[in-house]
Amino acid sequence: MKKLLSIALIAVLAFSLVACSSDKTEDTNTDKKVLTVATSADFPPYEFVDDDGNFSGIDVEVAGLIADKMGYELEIVNMDFNSIIPAVATGKYDLGMSGFSITEDRKESVLFSDCYVTAQQVVIVTEDSDIESVDDLYAEGATYVVGTQLSTTGDIYFSDDIANELTTCSIMEYVKATDLVQALKTGKIDCIIIDNAPAQEFVAKNEGLKILETEYVTEEYAVCTKLGNDEMISQVNAALSDLLSDGSIQAVIDKYISAK
Ligand code: ARG
Repeated sequence: MKKLLSIALIAVLAFSLVACSSDKTEDTNTDKKVLTVATSADFPPYEFVDDDGNFSGIDVEVAGLIADKMGYELEIVNMDFNSIIPAVATGKYDLGMSGFSITEDRKESVLFSDCYVTAQQVVIVTEDSDIESVDDLYAEGATYVVGTQLSTTGDIYFSDDIANELTTCSIMEYVKATDLVQALKTGKIDCIIIDNAPAQEFVAKNEGLKILETEYVTEEYAVCTKLGNDEMISQVNAALSDLLSDGSIQAVIDKYISAK
């Protein structure tokens, strides 16, 4: 009986030792601070879900490089584009990185890093469209239905133009950028205002679409964080400055946007 007891005791002891050591390994793993980055993975080549179901794209990779430089482990959080700024503004996530264009209005709710890339808003139409240039959207009596992604700069600018009676066209907002293409192909909207790089991807993957030559507006992309988070944004800026000057960001861009 005594023997049995001591065996049981040894077993318990051994078990707790194992449990203890495995606890320790878990501890060291979680020791690395996690950088949570909110994005809307509907915007190739900047952020999308690849064929294996992984988050991929320029922003996702650059976020990884920034996290590395800052000594963090990266965690991508996918959500609707219009929810990112409100979530980042309250500090729910450390950073927002989703092809965000810097605007004065947004600066009232979030703090932007330095710019890491410039982009243009362009207009996608069907190949047989009678919209030939951006000016056609502002022609007298024009009644085109313009599709935009909710809360994007294209959406905000065109809504402002309607409100200011600069155009008689109307707007249809979609939560997901990818839904815009379907809406255009099925004739629910007459054109899409969206950033140049995703426009190129959508046109390349869908027959019968083209991009108008006149660009709508030029913008600068930046990372955003909660107002007052100056410490974090200066770390992001330091990382960006290194990554821009050593060509790392350009290499990521080249990987996703092949020179055409
Ligand atoms: N650059 C535009 C903006 O800042 C569009 C960004 C959309 N991004 C996205 N992941 N869907 O509003």
